[in-house]
Amino acid sequence: MDQATSLRNMVNERKTSAPIRKARVITITSGKGGVGKSNTSVNLALALSELDKKVIIFDADFGLANVEVMFGALPKYNLSDVIYRGKRIEDIITEGPNGIGFVSGGSGIVGLSNVNRDQLAFLIHNLNNLDGLADFIIIDTGAGISDQVLSFAMMAPEIFMITTPEPSSLTDSYSLIKALYRNPNFDKDNTTIRVIANKASTIEDGELVYQKLSSVVSKFLQGRLDYLGMVPLDSTIDKAIRQQKPVMISFPNCKASKAYKLIAKDIVDGTHLANNVKRGISEIFSSIMLNRRL
Ligand SMILES: Nc1ncnc2c1ncn2[C@@H]1O[C@H](COP(=O)(O)OP(=O)(O)OP(=O)(O)O)[C@@H](O)[C@H]1O
Ligand SMILES: [Mg+2]
Repeated sequence: MDQATSLRNMVNERKTSAPIRKARVITITSGKGGVGKSNTSVNLALALSELDKKVIIFDADFGLANVEVMFGALPKYNLSDVIYRGKRIEDIITEGPNGIGFVSGGSGIVGLSNVNRDQLAFLIHNLNNLDGLADFIIIDTGAGISDQVLSFAMMAPEIFMITTPEPSSLTDSYSLIKALYRNPNFDKDNTTIRVIANKASTIEDGELVYQKLSSVVSKFLQGRLDYLGMVPLDSTIDKAIRQQKPVMISFPNCKASKAYKLIAKDIVDGTHLANNVKRGISEIFSSIMLNRRL
């Protein structure tokens, strides 16, 4: 049996023996850098935790201390400690404010070249456990059309596409969505792409961001986007970051925090909820590894 077949078998065995999965996995991504992915990940996690949801943030923007800076804490371990050093996933979760868990991806999973079958089996087993530890797993990715970003976006059942009113943010979001649609591994029927308009000046401004993006996606890709809402341009966010605290903690009643709370409520209560096919974090990682490595 070749390595790909044996890994595939292993993943399938896991599926049947796995505990009932409960985490809803959301990938937060963008075409352009610096548009607010990490802020959105952390503050939405806090807003969801106010609604009594257990959230784990997975930092997949490897190499960049993104979420860590906002939590004001550097995690001791990352995913490579699970793969190479036998740590359990529970041991590498850093506890953030309000019970939010944080997992650092370390140097990355896409492109791992020297992982053996036992290490992979152990990783998948641990990721399965992560699925059972949270209501939501939020994956904060990097920006743009890199292998890393595309892999995570491709496999996630729900993608939140952070876009600002800047023309370059709109065109870069479109390019990323186009790259997804053109990829044969992208399952467009079972993936929801929802736009969050960040740094918008008004509610109308936010809706316009969505309408512009959605009309080109519908015209040129015959695709469909949903709108999740807007977060206003709010200088309080930078004020909070200077204190190394998320705005939801430092200024819970500012305009931006109110917007995060509204969006969190919609995520939880929304009617256009989920897909029938619910991919968990371990399946997402297995698919990434099956497609890319073997
Ligand atoms: N709604 C907002 N209003 C004002 N400033 C914001 C808002 N959202 C994010 N910012 C600011 O924009 C900058 C980039 O935010 P953030 O780091 O979250 O972006 P990112 O998309 O994660 O960036 P990268 O691509 O580098 O990972 C930060 O300085 C942040 O404070
Ligand atoms: Mg970031």
